[in-house]
Amino acid sequence: MNSSYEQELCNKKLETILVIDDSPTNLEILHDVLGSAGYEVLVEMDGASGIEQVEGNPPDLILLDVMMPKIDGFETCRRLQANPSTKHIPIIFITALTEAEEKVKGLALGAVDYITKPFEQEEVLARISLHLKLRKLNLELDKQKQELEIRVAERTSELSQTLNELKQTQLQLVQTEKISSLGQLVAGVAHEVNNPIGFISTNLHYANQYIEDLLILVRLFQKNCSNPGSEVEEQIEAMDLKHIDKDLPKLMSSMKLGTDTIKGIMQSLRNFSRSDGENKKLVDIHEGIEATLMILQHRLKAYPKRPAIQVVKDYSVLPKVQCYPGQLNQVFMNLLANAIDVLEESMIENQYLNRKESTFINPKIRIATTINKYQVIVKIADNGKGMSESVINEIFQPFFTTKPEGKGTGLGLSISYQIITENHGGNLQCISSPGEGTEFLIQIPF
Ligand SMILES: Nc1ncnc2c1ncn2[C@@H]1O[C@H](COP(=O)(O)OP(=O)(O)OP(=O)(O)O)[C@@H](O)[C@H]1O
Ligand SMILES: [Mg+2]
Repeated sequence: MNSSYEQELCNKKLETILVIDDSPTNLEILHDVLGSAGYEVLVEMDGASGIEQVEGNPPDLILLDVMMPKIDGFETCRRLQANPSTKHIPIIFITALTEAEEKVKGLALGAVDYITKPFEQEEVLARISLHLKLRKLNLELDKQKQELEIRVAERTSELSQTLNELKQTQLQLVQTEKISSLGQLVAGVAHEVNNPIGFISTNLHYANQYIEDLLILVRLFQKNCSNPGSEVEEQIEAMDLKHIDKDLPKLMSSMKLGTDTIKGIMQSLRNFSRSDGENKKLVDIHEGIEATLMILQHRLKAYPKRPAIQVVKDYSVLPKVQCYPGQLNQVFMNLLANAIDVLEESMIENQYLNRKESTFINPKIRIATTINKYQVIVKIADNGKGMSESVINEIFQPFFTTKPEGKGTGLGLSISYQIITENHGGNLQCISSPGEGTEFLIQIPF
């Protein structure tokens, strides 16, 4: 329905009735009757000019004669009904025909009623008034329906937006909870190990000095006291003093190396478990990658049934980057864990196929870092089995996983995508094809 027309119709005080009839007598009678009943009356003498009149100046109701030359009433009605802007105007047929068939035809074409000639004045007015009332009610109903539809659409879109937000929040909560409990565990362990390793490392320094002094003293004794007696000589032989003299300094330096390594690991663990707080921090991206590799070390080493996963690092000199380091570690963790998963899966599949010449002899993860004018770029690639196009199209969708139930939640990449794009204004892309391995490309502006 044409809404400006509706509006116009609702505001109009005087209702307009168009009478289309080729008989001047009928037109005159109807004009008088309707005019004196308070309607504005328009008249036309044939179908074509009737249609023209309706289109130019739509009335509230049409009285339409059936028998007319050229375009008869039925055809006129059909055309008016076929036009979306005139189809809602109620049409009442004026007919001299008493055959039921003709009346049914008129009603089937969309007319609302019919009146038969000769007219019963009262009846004509009563029918017109009834249909005008129905018309008003219909218009009102249409208007309310439209308003309701708009309100329902608004509510639906509000609700679906809320649902989306809820899903996102849930997603973040699950992942944040996962990472923060891992972070807390790591931080707790690092803290507990930190003190004892501190004692050992400090005391090792003094122990080394004391041992060196004692060895010097023993050597002096040996030099200045050529005959210490059999008891001392037996002891010197039993303990193999010469060997101790040579071996003890080596032993001390390897102990120092060991404690230094443990201290390095602890530093990495602390880096990994860094909490982000509200503001971004300037950090070295390599530290985060190294810390994550450290945590995943146990999954990279060789097992009886599979070789070690080789990690090739191709690092460039990078500027420090303003970021949420804990979140970035989460991304590295997800990408590296996925790479390890796919390499393990690929190795198992190859074994299962019992291929003698396994195409998969050297499971490898390559981590490359570079910069361009505006961004730091981290590429994490594996030589696993790759992904089909249909999988690639889904990987960033929450809860999409190809892993067996209980193994993957399908959240890793969707969270990583959100962290890189929304939280860091960067880009996360995946390049992969079946049999060709997979590469993830992280771009973060600095
Ligand atoms: N390096 C990769 N090689 C091949 N397929 C991959 C790789 N990384 C991700 N995928 C595919 O993308 C899917 C989604 O990865 P995503 O990390 O989001 O979830 P997931 O690893 O299945 O579960 P989780 O929530 O535990 O991380 C994986 O199930 C896998 O099919
Ligand atoms: Mg994953």
